[in-house]
Amino acid sequence: MSPDTPTEVVSRELHGKVLLVTINNPPVNALGVDVRRGILDAIDAADADHDVQSVLIVGAGRNFIAGADIREFGKPPLPPSLPDVCNRIEACSKPVVAAIHGAALGGGLEIALAAHYRLAVAGAKLGLPEVQLGLIPGAGGTQRAPRLIGAKAALDLMLSGRHIGAEEALTLGLVDRLGRSDNILAEGFAYAQELLSAHAPVRRTRNADALADRQKNQTAIEAARADTAKKSRGLFSPLKIVEAVEAALDHSFDEGLRIERKLFLQCIDSPQRAGLIHAFFAEREVLKVPETRNAKPRAIERVGIVGGGTMGAGIAVAVLDAGLPVTMIERDEAALARGRTHVEKVYDGLIAKGRMTADAKAATMARFTGSTSYDALAQGDLVIEAVFEDIMVKQAVFAELDRVCKPGAVLASNTSYLDIDAIAASISRPADVIGLHFFSPANIMKLLEIVIPAKVSADVVATAFELAKKLRKVPVRAGVCDGFIGNRILAAYRQAADYMMEDGASPYQIDQALRDFGYPMGPFQVSDLAGGDIGWATRKRKAATRDPSARYVQIADRICERGWFGQKTGRGYYLYPEGARIGTPDPEVLTIIDAERQRAGITPRSFINEEIIRRYMAAMINEGANVVHQRIALRPLDVDVTFLYGYGFPRYRGGPMKYADTVGLPNVLSDIREFAKEDPLFWQPSPLLIDLVERGANFDTLNQSE
Ligand code: 3HC
Ligand code: NAI
Repeated sequence: MSPDTPTEVVSRELHGKVLLVTINNPPVNALGVDVRRGILDAIDAADADHDVQSVLIVGAGRNFIAGADIREFGKPPLPPSLPDVCNRIEACSKPVVAAIHGAALGGGLEIALAAHYRLAVAGAKLGLPEVQLGLIPGAGGTQRAPRLIGAKAALDLMLSGRHIGAEEALTLGLVDRLGRSDNILAEGFAYAQELLSAHAPVRRTRNADALADRQKNQTAIEAARADTAKKSRGLFSPLKIVEAVEAALDHSFDEGLRIERKLFLQCIDSPQRAGLIHAFFAEREVLKVPETRNAKPRAIERVGIVGGGTMGAGIAVAVLDAGLPVTMIERDEAALARGRTHVEKVYDGLIAKGRMTADAKAATMARFTGSTSYDALAQGDLVIEAVFEDIMVKQAVFAELDRVCKPGAVLASNTSYLDIDAIAASISRPADVIGLHFFSPANIMKLLEIVIPAKVSADVVATAFELAKKLRKVPVRAGVCDGFIGNRILAAYRQAADYMMEDGASPYQIDQALRDFGYPMGPFQVSDLAGGDIGWATRKRKAATRDPSARYVQIADRICERGWFGQKTGRGYYLYPEGARIGTPDPEVLTIIDAERQRAGITPRSFINEEIIRRYMAAMINEGANVVHQRIALRPLDVDVTFLYGYGFPRYRGGPMKYADTVGLPNVLSDIREFAKEDPLFWQPSPLLIDLVERGANFDTLNQSE
């Protein structure tokens, strides 16, 4: 029999006594309104048709169902609701089988839980990741999963949001059977047929009994509540998940569903949901840049790295971890040996923690070679330069690369601030030169700024994006300017923090305010961790070109002059007695700050934390707007992703530009104008911000229009 409505997102086809229901809603079979309607109709049809004795639900393409359609959240609801669809499946009078391949996530798994029997094949990914979007499972997941697999396992799935494979799902009791092949249709039909032959009854998860041992489940819920209160600082939905699971233990199934709905809607209304969903789409949108649309990436099989210091070694680890061979070039044998040691240290650390075996380290290091001669790079497909931050030194390195590298090799610089156009212009093949700005530690930090010089060819850009994928980094396209997207904006809000410190807030208060905002660390803690000497060197380098009329706070210089560079020297803004990793406030630093205030003729005033956040964010948002205005960032969302992945911005706030939309651009602009009364040079409103406010628009309108 042919499908009755082949063009629809849910098709039905009777195979003997089994009604095959196929969800076909590319790219991931999300449960949009048409899919929900189609499933409902299919179950109604199955119940009504005497020829149908069982229903088999499968997904077309690479996945079963990836979940609710995330784009619908925050918009007016369209019936039927997903909980109603799940309840309808469960109420079906004939056995319903879900056959899972690929993703069965969120609402996708909830559909499967509402079915009467579940099968999964190898490669299946099951999970309830709603927590990552600021939500709780909202289509019966918080009620059915604990009844099926117990509160402890269900809470673990929902609070971690992790994906599990078919085998683990079978062990937990989330599925009933593993398919032997990856032919999902054959496996699904075989299972449905077997169930029919055995006269298997309709079996509803609402009646499953994994919560029968009340005491055991209550203990698991209490433990999860205590753990969640400790770990999910600032997040709204995790404790709601615990509450919903507790309702499964304490109430009837229908009452539990009602409570789940109420909690789910509270989460939908939370700004955290909006921030997290913005982050979800933004990190996919950043991959869409004009240069990669039609260009094919060049092949990358051999990677060279010039410089084996902090960054060179970290990048080497990132590349080795992606399974590629690395050739490191250093100035002399001693520096090369140090570079190799830096790389080995990372793996030795993993071995010490039991996360790597000595054999695995040996196999990885077998792909690492070093040389003091550039000739070793002759066959490299990509070379990443990570030598001292000095344009002369870098240009000398690129001259060597120009001499030895084969035609078509991609030549990249990891510079933090320097003009990559000037580096590209200094050699004979500027079209092959690009910026690859990693963040420290380069093997851990997810952000990779891909910096686009004027003459770079599109396939080099495509190669950089492909490399990011291989290295499991989040790439963001950035234009050439002093500091690109991230460090340029950082310079602005760090200055705002320094001004507040000189005006009366202590670095400890500022750090605390930012931690309360959701950052893992405040800016002065970060400075102590990174080493105050790095910023000091930059300030000295830029001293000659600094605008003499601009306000300049000298506190950091006074601290650095004492050799207090942060954690590595035992003190910076904080004290780190005996190698402590968490610092304690230092009264001597406060004395230095007082002296500097006096020298600058400033009478300190008090700040409340809210003002600290307003000033810090206004500086960040304003410079973010400039960066978008000057096309250094393609869209506001590129700024957001940069700060989420490179600078610890709290994900549930979506990034600085999303945060600006949340508080309202007119409010941000009026703050800036207010602050400008005391320092008009620093607080110059961005033309883009003014324009958006005048048009009644926000940053998100620019994300949509690209
Ligand atoms: N809704 C709408 N669009 C979705 C989506 C969803 N649930 N999941 C993925 N997409 C879109 C992506 O935005 C992307 O769109 P684009 O091509 O325009 O950029 C496209 O589908 C492909 O996605 P990926 O690039 O992520 O594809 P991958 O193959 O790398 O990954 C995946 C596939 C593992 C399914 C991944 O997309 C994923 O994790 N999706 C989200 C899963 C999820 O969070 N589900 C829960 C939703 S909330 C829910 O169900 C609430 C319920 O309890 C009521
Ligand atoms: P580093 O000082 O730790 O290492 C630089 C290395 O380059 C040294 O080992 C040195 O021997 C080697 N080197 C210098 N000249 C060389 C040459 N001509 N040929 C071969 N090797 C040479 O410096 P770090 O921190 O690793 O920085 C390197 C680059 O990465 C700089 O451009 C820096 O701005 C950038 N960067 C640094 C970050 C950080 O947090 N440290 C973050 C992102 C980028």
